[in-house]
Amino acid sequence: AMATPKANVLNEGLEGVRQAAETCTRCPLYCNATQTVFGEGPENAGTMLVGEQPGDQEDLTGRPFVGPAGKLLEGVLSDVGLKRDRLYVTNAVKHFKFEPRGKRRIHQKPNMSEIKACRWWLTQELELVRPKIVVAMGATALSSLVEKRYKLSDLRGEAMEREDGGQLFVTVHPSYLLRIPDQGKKREEMQRFRDDLAKIRALG
Ligand code: URA
Repeated sequence: AMATPKANVLNEGLEGVRQAAETCTRCPLYCNATQTVFGEGPENAGTMLVGEQPGDQEDLTGRPFVGPAGKLLEGVLSDVGLKRDRLYVTNAVKHFKFEPRGKRRIHQKPNMSEIKACRWWLTQELELVRPKIVVAMGATALSSLVEKRYKLSDLRGEAMEREDGGQLFVTVHPSYLLRIPDQGKKREEMQRFRDDLAKIRALG
């Protein structure tokens, strides 16, 4: 008998969805990005962190939150006693959107149609991981996770019921913290973010 051509057989579960996402053309962002940056973490994670989209380093390595925002996030997670590798970490949009400027690639905000196109993958991740707590980090993640247009500052720091029975917790995006020029304000906002992650730990 002939062997089954393994490469053509889709895996079950998260791994199968991750493989399917590698060739995603649901929006035009795949044209210029290096690769799809899918979420990572245990399929049975109780908490899912959702960011905006991969940045330069994520695009090159294929892993979410490995650049400056990821380093900041990991530091604060460890401050509150959360282990990154126990969480499922993903993004609302899975291709890097950028504008070339000389040798640099400048991050650009994904628009609503890109967010909606990519929501298909986030929905699959949510259905497979079924996290108890979903954390929207920043306005892009928030607009992907809830239909209604809310202001991030109105929802920040509290847990809300999700239709699937889980909870949604809203906080800022770690990149926002990196961009605060004033050191005093930055320290303050870092502490607020740390407080948010401590609340998330307590919920979990
Ligand atoms: N910013 C994000 O939103 N996601 C990443 O993976 C990296 C930076």
